[in-house]
Amino acid sequence: MVLEAGLGSARVLVTAGSQGIGFGAARAFLVEGARVVVNSSNADRLRRATDALAPLGEVHGVAADLREKGDLDRLLEETVGHLGGLDTLVYVTGSPRPGLFLEQGFADWDEAARLLVVSPAYLARRAAEAMLVGGKGGRMVFLTSVAIREPIPTIATSSVCRIAVAGLVRTLARELGPKKIRVNGILPGYIATDRVDEVLRDAARRKGTSPEAERAALEREIPLGRIGSPEELARAIVFLGSEMSSYVSGALLPVDGGLLRSVG
Ligand SMILES: NC(=O)c1ccc[n+]([C@@H]2O[C@H](COP(=O)([O-])OP(=O)(O)OC[C@H]3O[C@@H](n4cnc5c(N)ncnc54)[C@H](OP(=O)(O)O)[C@@H]3O)[C@@H](O)[C@H]2O)c1
Repeated sequence: MVLEAGLGSARVLVTAGSQGIGFGAARAFLVEGARVVVNSSNADRLRRATDALAPLGEVHGVAADLREKGDLDRLLEETVGHLGGLDTLVYVTGSPRPGLFLEQGFADWDEAARLLVVSPAYLARRAAEAMLVGGKGGRMVFLTSVAIREPIPTIATSSVCRIAVAGLVRTLARELGPKKIRVNGILPGYIATDRVDEVLRDAARRKGTSPEAERAALEREIPLGRIGSPEELARAIVFLGSEMSSYVSGALLPVDGGLLRSVG
């Protein structure tokens, strides 16, 4: 579906996009006419993704591990090399290992902090520098999780570390707004990807049930009665990553079928 987002020839970087949420976002931007760089850490998976996306428009793959500073620097440099600049950054990440708080060791926290705190902050800095060239500004969209409002016990590292993304969004929206860079976040609920399958399998193993039973129980909790699709989430990402949202900055938008109960 074309949303008429005014993205024709916009230069977009989507991280962690070889599958799932990132892949859905990259596809949606291409359909809107944007030129896209997709990143992930596994070169083979990334090649399969860019092959699948290529019929939709101009797409380039850059393999880089979001946990590594050298890779983040190279990712930005190669993105600007391919596209001639950067208008929109969509930051998606890989997932830390699921588990309760008492199951997590120092290495788990170290890994999660790199992936969910250090990497988005550093990449945002590099992306902002690229967007400031030419003075047109840009847009950043950070994917985080409903777990930052209502922590999910079985993904403890995620529930804790992803809160930093909310601070990042608000901090950057204030500092970069005067420079015409808008910064927003999205809090997905449950979106049908391999990650959700992993979380459901983990829950089933803990409770001695089945992934199917866990899925049914989860869907009873969601007011709209179902898990969302990557395409539904991608529409919100394109909204915030385009000029359709020209007066929105510092927002944290849940896309969760009504799952969050808390106010504010
Ligand atoms: N699905 C949901 O319902 C949901 C809800 C809230 C939050 N989230 C979070 O949103 C993010 C994306 O979720 P998803 O459901 O799309 O997961 P997914 O289907 O498992 O995809 C994860 C993506 O991250 C890439 N990736 C993993 N580690 C990476 C690294 N170190 N550097 C660069 N790319 C890396 C993977 O590609 P490679 O293997 O090729 O690197 C893959 O493309 C995750 O952080 C997830 O926890 C998901």
